[in-house]
Amino acid sequence: MMLNNELSAIEDAIRDCQRCELHETVTNKVIRKGSDDPKVLFIGEAPGKNEDETGVPFCGRAGTILDEIIGYMDLPDEDWAVVNTVKCRPPKNRNPHKMELQSCKPFLIKQIELLDPDLIILLGNTAQKAFCPDHPLEWGATEMIEDRCILKIYHPAALIYTRSRRVDQYRFLDEQRHLWQ
Ligand code: URA
Repeated sequence: MMLNNELSAIEDAIRDCQRCELHETVTNKVIRKGSDDPKVLFIGEAPGKNEDETGVPFCGRAGTILDEIIGYMDLPDEDWAVVNTVKCRPPKNRNPHKMELQSCKPFLIKQIELLDPDLIILLGNTAQKAFCPDHPLEWGATEMIEDRCILKIYHPAALIYTRSRRVDQYRFLDEQRHLWQ
């Protein structure tokens, strides 16, 4: 109950946030999807058009692929959650600027602390730049960073047109199953 109160408080603070310019063009803040007690926390990039319209992370095309990844990992609904590096859609889906990542980072860190996953999966480079800017990671990295077990994989959108990446990603996830099973 305490945890839920703290999660609600941080989510209210995100809704009220005006720390960077992204809030000026946002329709809905996009905060979190999934369990509030996940084993695995996915960190995406930034909300796109569909997410901005609905307030739900990964509800468009990339979301369909993330759902496939979660299905492939055999993760039940209570075992995963997903958040983004920034909670507001950048105009025209541009990459978030460094300063925007920095402004939103305290929210990301608090979400990680409260959700307290066993494993964090960084979906692509922006997630890595937000979570560990001084610690560049290659695709397929598995490391302990700040006492957290981290995997870095391709962002779902990077798999849409590239079949070979999908094959590599699923093979890699097979090799790492022991981390969440
Ligand atoms: N891509 C992301 O990184 N996050 C979303 O919420 C949607 C698409």
